[in-house]
Amino acid sequence: MTLNQIRTKYVEYLKARGHTLIPSASLVPQNDPTTLFTGSGMQPLVPYLLGEPHPKGSRLVNSQKSFRAEDIEEVGDNRHTTFFEMLGNWSLGDYFKKEQLPWFFGFLTEEIGLDPKRLYVTAFIGDEKNSVPRDDESAEIWQELFAGKGIEAKIVPIGSEADGYRLGMQGGRIFFYDAKKNWWSRAGVPENMPAGEPGGPDSEVFYDFETPHDPKFGAECHPNCDCGRFLEIGNSVFMQYIKKEDGSFGLLPKQNVDFGGGLERISAASSGNADVFLIDVFVDIIDLLAHFSGKEYADSRYQRSFRIIADHMRAATFMLADGVRPSNTERGYILRRLIRRAAQHMMKLGANDGEKEDSMLIRAAIIVVEKYKQAYPELDGEEVYEVITEEIWKEQVQFAHVLAEGVPRVIKIAQTGYISGAQAFGVSSTLGVPFEMIQEIAAEHKADVGELDFEAAMEKHREVSRAGIEQKFKGGLADTSEKTTRLHTAHHLLLKALQIVLGDQVKQRGSNITQERLRIDFSYGQKMTQEQIREVEDIVNEQIRNALPVVRSTLPKEEAEQLGAQHEFGAKYPDVVSVYSVGPAGASERDPQFDAAFSIEFCGGPHVSNTSDLAGTFKIQKEEAIASGIRRIKAIIT
Ligand code: ALA
Repeated sequence: MTLNQIRTKYVEYLKARGHTLIPSASLVPQNDPTTLFTGSGMQPLVPYLLGEPHPKGSRLVNSQKSFRAEDIEEVGDNRHTTFFEMLGNWSLGDYFKKEQLPWFFGFLTEEIGLDPKRLYVTAFIGDEKNSVPRDDESAEIWQELFAGKGIEAKIVPIGSEADGYRLGMQGGRIFFYDAKKNWWSRAGVPENMPAGEPGGPDSEVFYDFETPHDPKFGAECHPNCDCGRFLEIGNSVFMQYIKKEDGSFGLLPKQNVDFGGGLERISAASSGNADVFLIDVFVDIIDLLAHFSGKEYADSRYQRSFRIIADHMRAATFMLADGVRPSNTERGYILRRLIRRAAQHMMKLGANDGEKEDSMLIRAAIIVVEKYKQAYPELDGEEVYEVITEEIWKEQVQFAHVLAEGVPRVIKIAQTGYISGAQAFGVSSTLGVPFEMIQEIAAEHKADVGELDFEAAMEKHREVSRAGIEQKFKGGLADTSEKTTRLHTAHHLLLKALQIVLGDQVKQRGSNITQERLRIDFSYGQKMTQEQIREVEDIVNEQIRNALPVVRSTLPKEEAEQLGAQHEFGAKYPDVVSVYSVGPAGASERDPQFDAAFSIEFCGGPHVSNTSDLAGTFKIQKEEAIASGIRRIKAIIT
């Protein structure tokens, strides 16, 4: 089954069970400083999982564009991709395990037609320390579901990672794992969750491709083994806990279900082939590359390159459509790496990339657009086509320049017969020649590479490029903390103040809030003057002194637009939206008097309830250009 077919079937299946379809949020998180990219369906829905009412009700379904930067280096095997679609269905304090597990089982076996004998499932073994009981309820539901298909499903504990999961399969079908495998939160296991973070035990479904176990991955095979026999295709998270300030767990106001299904993986399972790169969207790209390079996908010397190009160009295309541009920092850096890595592997395949018209990277991107534009309208249209093709081409040309300068330098060092790790790191970080290429050039010139040295430098390089990502995670995870909430409200005041001082053409282009500071990117062509900065600060501080109420309302998108509610450029919103208005005094949800409000924005919250809660003085720390026509402000409350 194609991705489009499975996505449609899933949405229809859940609609028939009372769910409302909501659009995928952008790959660029809005008001979520925890990650550079949206990496799961739950991220954009955190405020609702924490208890805010969702304008579309308590049963939602979607397919969320997701990107996991930490998987870039894993791409090349038959299962890892950086970009993927996460099918999601959501109970916001509505149904729970008894509905969720039978629905997903029914979807897989009845709608997709998977053989239930190929399905293996897991549940949480319990965590005494945090008073979370073993999830016997899920195990029992699974047992009944399998029994309904004439399958006797044995429940077995699997042990922990520490003991190497040496208990193995034990003839079981339902497996209890510890928190490492069967607990979900954005921060991972309970111990890593900061205060304010929601999480819960989960139950995963694996598809058995019945390939032989590879002992390289451990003595015994089991569903979570990485040997390739089993592939996780869906995860039902029972999101019911919240980490408290004292480190213990409390219950969320409501029990939620956060289900995430791997669309690509379900498609692979439906074809019975474990290679996710054989699903329809990738096959067309691979055929194109094979045709123009004369290389075969099945050839083990080239297979990795085929996969890397297909994965990276799909991710890059979606990122470009969501407004990311290649650069040397944060998201832009990741996008740059994707395109350059794809270009590098294109060279390996030897496909001609001399002119823009011949660019295989661009052609791969166009296939992505064609495959996805119906489900993701942001990929459709001339303007975005122009952006995608032009940005990829510009990056390719720049990369060619980097190599033209850097490769001769690497060759020169290689001719001495030895490249030290420090030299490799130097060439890579200052000239931009990728490590993999340095290694290849060394091999061609039979030069020794200071292997250990080199590994250490490479690791350092990885750490540096990851640091930004982890930093965000550390700094921002408790983004529902009081400090972040205050800065979030200040952010609304700031946008309005900028419009008052600089003009209505100022639009928000990005935002990021941590506990320490807020950041806004906005469209404006010039550097702000000191007077303008002071004026903006004064306006914000005045609203703090005015003690204005902050009110949330739910209304049709059109109505919100008519009221002049601000939204981020390019962001997609459902047809019923939540808006936050600041002021005037006396506004209430029933009679919001939006006309007289100081600021109105599309936003899911959370916010303080009155501007006086900001309790401090707003101060702009930095104002700078980050791209042509786009400025960035960092500000704090002291
Ligand atoms: N949030 C869960 C996951 O990403 C569904 O696996």
